[in-house]
Amino acid sequence: MAASTPLEIVPATASDIAALVDAHQRFMRNYYSARLGGYYLRHFFWPILLDEPGTNVFIARESDAVAGFVICTRETDRLRSRLLAGAGIVGNALLLWRSLTDPLVMRSSLGNILNLLKPRDTLLPSAELFLIGVDECCRGKGIGRRLMEAMDVWFRKVGEDTCFLRVRADNASAIRLYETMAFERSREVTEMGERWLLMAKRYDSTKSVSP
Ligand SMILES: CC(C)(COP(=O)(O)OP(=O)(O)OC[C@H]1O[C@@H](n2cnc3c(N)ncnc32)[C@H](O)[C@@H]1OP(=O)(O)O)[C@@H](O)C(=O)NCCC(=O)NCCS
Repeated sequence: MAASTPLEIVPATASDIAALVDAHQRFMRNYYSARLGGYYLRHFFWPILLDEPGTNVFIARESDAVAGFVICTRETDRLRSRLLAGAGIVGNALLLWRSLTDPLVMRSSLGNILNLLKPRDTLLPSAELFLIGVDECCRGKGIGRRLMEAMDVWFRKVGEDTCFLRVRADNASAIRLYETMAFERSREVTEMGERWLLMAKRYDSTKSVSP
């Protein structure tokens, strides 16, 4: 039997897109972004993420399989606008089609559009933990924590002093993970009938958190 290789955390590249699409759809099936369809994820969503200069994706890789991933960005507004409207005619037509056929996608797309139309919430930093997911079979083994540590190292290195995230207010396991990684609860918001918790972490511990 071949010996399994130890888990490593590495930055994703274009050659990881197929594995990331599979991981995204399996690990996060109840999430809006995972329901956008394999073709859209493969040809638009993940290529846009990997192409964004202010965005990084880290993969937890074990024996050549993706056990988890985290998407983190220094340019949350630009990334969100690109994901929403930067996919060209074909990509946007696919998004529209998904929205018309899946109520969750419709609700989230409308929420995203309304958010982008609203004036920028100046209290929110632009560095964001955008999405994190770990394979169901590998949860509870510290992979989420290791992915977030890789994100922290990068944000610190590039000089970010605060990172925020939004999480469904009822996602207890994710909130617990974030709290163990020093994120603090900031406030709750309701969007399209769903409660979201905003959390933030300061890398400079002498300043207080205020989103
Ligand atoms: C949230 C998620 C990423 C956690 O990944 P993970 O690899 O299981 O997390 P870890 O093993 O690193 O756990 C780190 C800490 O988080 C907390 N935690 C993680 N899962 C937990 C659970 N199910 N219940 C309670 N606490 C939990 C614990 O405090 C844990 O530390 P401990 O093991 O020392 O007690 C994973 O459950 C997941 O992919 N969920 C589905 C997708 C999702 O909800 N993503 C977040 C929103 S974008």
